[in-house]
Amino acid sequence: MFEEAQLYSPVTTDEDGNVTVHLVEGHPGENDEEYRRRRNEIAAASLAWHPGQPVPHIDYTETEHEVWRTVCEHLGPLHERLACRQFNDAVAALDLPRDRVPQLAEVTAGLQPLTGFSYVPAPGIVPLEEFYGSLKDGLFHSTQYLRHHAAPLYTPEPDILHEVMGHGNLLADPQVAEVNRLAGAAARRVTTPEALQVVADVFWFTVEFGVLRESGDLKAYGAGILSSYGEIEEFGSMEIRPIDFATMATIDYDITHYQPVLFAAESFDHMVDAVGGFFASCDDETPARLGVRAKA
Ligand code: TRP
Ligand code: FE
Repeated sequence: MFEEAQLYSPVTTDEDGNVTVHLVEGHPGENDEEYRRRRNEIAAASLAWHPGQPVPHIDYTETEHEVWRTVCEHLGPLHERLACRQFNDAVAALDLPRDRVPQLAEVTAGLQPLTGFSYVPAPGIVPLEEFYGSLKDGLFHSTQYLRHHAAPLYTPEPDILHEVMGHGNLLADPQVAEVNRLAGAAARRVTTPEALQVVADVFWFTVEFGVLRESGDLKAYGAGILSSYGEIEEFGSMEIRPIDFATMATIDYDITHYQPVLFAAESFDHMVDAVGGFFASCDDETPARLGVRAKA
């Protein structure tokens, strides 16, 4: 379970309609006026979007394209070595640009024929039930801003690089897309905050930070590992446990640092069966079954 720490910087709008992003504490862009202005601008664009409208086009700056390029250059060879085969196949199938930031509309155009997923804009945090529930309909809420250029190897706050390079590529794989849809269905099915939190916690340790065995080697299939060229180089030295949903739902984790405990599936197929099966059967009784204590 996670609490307190904020994954996304809060976004507020004042009476005059000015949108402000309150960067989370310790954010590398904290003292960079230009970065903060840009974050406000992109948040305002994402916020102005309503379902059914075309996704706002963002005119990315040369600095932003450079961040995208830098991360892609580092991640390319790391993915070949450390990502599961299905991810690398999906990268080839989706064939996103590596030299510039893609628009969310391009991501949707690439995913539609492969798995039917669409990307929609999010200014920052999206309520849990909305974020996860939408996955059932093949909708992925994605931020549009980029991490700060001073710290491209890891960001404490998910950005378009994470959402698109990590999740987007994964969602090009039909089996991964189905696991995401099942997580969405689970989020829609449950009616208690405890059960929704179990969905979120299992999602965290699988879709975000999962690893699996492939011909004896440990490979990453979690989007949070696959989008960070700092974290991906470290996962081999973390504590690796077999998949265990009760532990996932009960251990504390810090969302702002590299994950020290990871859960490994025995194979890609095992991941699809176990994780997909878990989400398919998840209901309001699941927290009690897993030994999750009710919150006071
Ligand atoms: N650390 C990830 C990256 O650098 C992004 C990220 C931040 C993230 N917080 C997360 C990913 C939580 C998954 C879950 O790309
Ligand atoms: Fe994510």
